[in-house]
Amino acid sequence: MQDGKTAVHEGKEANDQLAIDGGTPVRSEPLPLEFPGVHHMNDEEATAVGRVVKSRSLFRYYGLDLQKEVENFEAEFAKFLGVSHVLAVSSGTGALQVALSALGVGPGQEVIVPAYMWVSVVAAVVNRGAIPVLADIDDTFCIDPKVLESKITSRTAGIIVVHMSGAPADIKAIQEVARRHKLFLLEDCAQCVGGSVGGKKVGTFGDIATFSFQMNKNMTSGDGGCVVTNDRKLYQRAFACHDLGYVRDEKGRLNMSDPDLCLWGHGCRLDEIRGSVLRVQLKKLPQIVGSMRRSKYRIRKALEALPKIQLRRIVDPEGDTSSFLLTTYADANTAQRVNQALRAEGIVTYPQGLSNIMMTEWGLHLYYNIASLVKRTSIDVRHSPWKLSENAGSTFQYEKGTCPAADSLFERTIVLAVPSALTQRDEDDIIRAFEKVYKAILA
Ligand SMILES: Cc1ncc(COP(=O)(O)O)c(C=O)c1O
Repeated sequence: MQDGKTAVHEGKEANDQLAIDGGTPVRSEPLPLEFPGVHHMNDEEATAVGRVVKSRSLFRYYGLDLQKEVENFEAEFAKFLGVSHVLAVSSGTGALQVALSALGVGPGQEVIVPAYMWVSVVAAVVNRGAIPVLADIDDTFCIDPKVLESKITSRTAGIIVVHMSGAPADIKAIQEVARRHKLFLLEDCAQCVGGSVGGKKVGTFGDIATFSFQMNKNMTSGDGGCVVTNDRKLYQRAFACHDLGYVRDEKGRLNMSDPDLCLWGHGCRLDEIRGSVLRVQLKKLPQIVGSMRRSKYRIRKALEALPKIQLRRIVDPEGDTSSFLLTTYADANTAQRVNQALRAEGIVTYPQGLSNIMMTEWGLHLYYNIASLVKRTSIDVRHSPWKLSENAGSTFQYEKGTCPAADSLFERTIVLAVPSALTQRDEDDIIRAFEKVYKAILA
């Protein structure tokens, strides 16, 4: 073997017997782990971190020799996105909390959230004392704009659209519904950093948007996130809420003079070390996304010849950051058989990763897997938000069955990560494994 990785390339004659039935697997080496930004990390990030440590100024607002890494990152990311304001925060979860606080969400309000998202989305709504209302998804695996209207009540304050698994939602149609009903639109771009629709970056369509830079995301500082908006007032409220409830003056000291910005803080500031890493990762983002997109579309093109594999509808392939390939099958049983057969062929990553898995195993991304949502648990004794009098009259439906299109897609879909470090040989193996499994199980 040339690189010691692949069994099938030893001879020209590939073994058609499935590995799950005792045949030779397509490959024996695990695929690279997902973590897109991590594969492109090198001395540049180390140098940036060293610069901050040497300055002994790790707090973003003042210090002995402040490098202004976070401030510069905010300006650079604002330029990259084409927005007026970027506020760096310590996580994507924090970003959602801060954004909803900036929007003034509270008891008596409903916020529409998709059936496929991440627990942090509903947590942010619940933590504000408001009611999350689930909306079904379509074949984009994001909110179905056609169901939105039926979810709107007199209590609806806004919509959180989540650009899932690397690719943008049908954001223009969703934006149109939000505008028509005068609802706020919050874009959660945690899983789609650098994505776009028609050349316009995700995060610039709604009133406010959130990003995550946690390690699984397209660029990373381990943990981190940001809130972005073109609305100065929202930015100032977000600023106050991300910190201690107040804005700061040019020396970084808290300023309590503005009665409108006398709020409460979430304690989500970002530090200079992570700011410095993000500046380097942002420069590499086009390269990171470019490599995933090349790999994914090469694999997708090959799968287009296999008609019983349904590919996710991509709103704009040029704006797909491509971190995941979702393939859907006629029924749950077929999907499970294909998944097991692919894994046996060696289409699996290291134990620290998850790929590839059935979507039903995708944890807290699926509404009915979120135990605290289904059970409507609460942190406080008043059972907020479920038993607050302000929320009486809202419907709370979260059990499996609430979103039938999502339920069906979840059980028929396989999630395969597309790492930013796939070699052509890795791609060949993935294609070969799909073809081999297709021939044996689906053809
Ligand atoms: C869609 C979505 N929103 C929010 C978050 C939360 O981000 P963080 O882990 O940085 O808090 C994640 C993280 O996985 C996510 O996938």
